[in-house]
Amino acid sequence: MDGKMNDSVEITPAQRIEGDITMPGDKSISHRLAMIGSIAEGVTTIHKFAASADSHSTLACLKELQVAFDEQQQTVTIHGRGLGGLQQPASVLDAQNSGTTVRMLSGVLAACPISATFVGDESLSRRPMRRILEPLRRFGATVEARDDNYLPLTIHGNSLQAIEYQVPVASAQVKSAVLLAALHASGRTRIVEPIQTRNHTEIALRQFGADIEVDNRTIEIEGGHNLTGRTTTVPGDISSAAFFIAAALSSGRGKLRIRGVGLNPTRTGVINLLEDMGGQISVERLHMEGGIGGEPVGDVVIRNSNLLGTEIRGHWVANVIDEIPVLAVLGVRTRNGIRIKEAGELRFKESDRIDAVVQNLRSLGVEVEEFEDGLFVPGNQKIRGGIVNSRGDHRIAMAFAVAALFATDAVTIQNASCVDVSFPGFFELMRSVAF
Ligand code: S3P
Repeated sequence: MDGKMNDSVEITPAQRIEGDITMPGDKSISHRLAMIGSIAEGVTTIHKFAASADSHSTLACLKELQVAFDEQQQTVTIHGRGLGGLQQPASVLDAQNSGTTVRMLSGVLAACPISATFVGDESLSRRPMRRILEPLRRFGATVEARDDNYLPLTIHGNSLQAIEYQVPVASAQVKSAVLLAALHASGRTRIVEPIQTRNHTEIALRQFGADIEVDNRTIEIEGGHNLTGRTTTVPGDISSAAFFIAAALSSGRGKLRIRGVGLNPTRTGVINLLEDMGGQISVERLHMEGGIGGEPVGDVVIRNSNLLGTEIRGHWVANVIDEIPVLAVLGVRTRNGIRIKEAGELRFKESDRIDAVVQNLRSLGVEVEEFEDGLFVPGNQKIRGGIVNSRGDHRIAMAFAVAALFATDAVTIQNASCVDVSFPGFFELMRSVAF
């Protein structure tokens, strides 16, 4: 691998992936702990807080909402303001590239006696928000958005009444917005998900003392119970680890250990699917962070393997939603290819991830079929050197860094600095294990 030029990174092929590395703290969990800590009573200390720009967008918005916190290296200490305690911001809340910040924090703001407006970057301003407007209005909040779907989005908080809500899309962000509003509502809210999505909010809320019950895809939460601040450590980000797992599995030789990876079953689909395809992945030193009912964490050890290929659809899609770009790229290294269906949500991420993967694979000479709701990457293909464009989407930049390791020639990734959104230092870390 080579260095950076402007905002492009050139990556040269590698024969071997080998090393012993640690992932940054999980981005999803960091957002949740920061928000929940802000509305708990007392002090919350979060170790290994994600280095990602997105999690820092949440912190920046919380600061505008007059939450006092301190960040020293990777430890964030928050002085909670109690339920509904966020204060009138002096200016707009800039969530930058972070959909999780807007969607989840809106759930809290719906119950605070203030008015707040979210803005974001060009990508975030194109992403759909109606999915949260609808349930928040049912709770009794007043919410306005451009074309009733896009940023800028303004919330006027109110006292909320519990609701029964069937979430229409498989989205952990929407579910979490509803849970955070429900925490403040009078009465018991019942939420049913169409497919189980990541459950970090449920786990964190229970650990902070919420009255919450989960039965499969149904969640009940009682409003008005105060939360208590706590000290906690964020597991390593499995969605970041996925790029290294993919690289190590299909490299010619080598063994890679990734320490302290979050292994919550609602996120481990990437490991399960790759193992089913023949990937040699083992988990060592498995333990629970935060005790029983907390987040499972362990070391993931990967050896290069021959992969069969698979089809990803149905309940798997929500579990691996952020890993699909790298799994699709990996399709070329499998025997039978990787087919992804029922994944139309990918078109509403930081970029249209179906189109971004298809166009970039084609520009590296890879044959790929595009569907409205997915794509098929046939197996056993060569990747040529060339130029790809991340479209400012961190997961596209990192997926094509993995593709570049297996290319016949160097690959230039344009707009590469967006990796900071979830993984500052990604290229340097990849360089340290790619030989
Ligand atoms: C996230 C949920 C997913 C995921 C995103 C993070 C979360 O989004 O793609 O990167 O932290 O809850 P959706 O809720 O839109 O599926």
